[in-house]
Amino acid sequence: MQEQQKRGRFIVFEGIDGAGKTTQIELLTKKLTEDGRRVYRTAEPTESVSGGLLRDALSGVSKRTPCEMAALFVLDRIFHNTNPVNGIEKMLSDGVDVICDRYYYSSLAYQGSETDAKWVQDMNLSCPEIRRPDVCIFLDLTPEQSMERIGKGRVTVEIYENVDRLSRVRDRFYGVFEALGDTERICVVNAARSIDEIHRDIVNLVQDIL
Ligand code: ADP
Ligand code: TYD
Repeated sequence: MQEQQKRGRFIVFEGIDGAGKTTQIELLTKKLTEDGRRVYRTAEPTESVSGGLLRDALSGVSKRTPCEMAALFVLDRIFHNTNPVNGIEKMLSDGVDVICDRYYYSSLAYQGSETDAKWVQDMNLSCPEIRRPDVCIFLDLTPEQSMERIGKGRVTVEIYENVDRLSRVRDRFYGVFEALGDTERICVVNAARSIDEIHRDIVNLVQDIL
């Protein structure tokens, strides 16, 4: 009989805009691949129809209410989990590690700071088709530092990208982590250091769940 394949690990990166998620995901993907693991890199909003609606709203092309945004993110996340071709569930059960740029913590922090936080939390955490990650790595940076980094690399700025909004979001991330307590493995990483230092910390954290 064929040996049962081991499930992949589900690793989420979070942080306010510009915290260094893309940079660190790239490095971790490379490291795990070099170590012989199969890795699927993904992000929210997704590339689906719902992801397109979200990107239009985030860039200001279309206007959505805070509740519409929260509901669209949930719809996008359910599709992200259940898509039979390359959804999170499918990848994990095929033994592939999934590294995801943003997940429900972002909804709890961003949408939770714009509309009823409890409603946003219930939709995400009580949904049977939204899987809990094995670890959430939160790259922590002040809004001022993140805006400075964004300013260097971006031509366009999205709706949440200003210091006041990001301060509220960062506070909410902390509130969310406190509320989740021991029910989840959440690792806060100081992102105001060199790219290599941060990467080394992340590799150590991830070793613990492999
Ligand atoms: P995010 O995906 O969280 O928005 P990025 O990885 O795109 O963040 O990083 C935002 C900007 O900051 C990019 O220009 C990137 O090169 C730069 N950057 C990333 N990490 C660091 C770091 N540790 N120190 C300085 N600049 C960084
Ligand atoms: P992203 O492309 O990851 O932006 P960045 O690289 O600047 O971090 O995410 C786009 C925006 O979507 C970002 O401002 C955060 C927002 N967002 C939410 O508000 N709620 C969510 O649930 C998710 C996944 C993202």
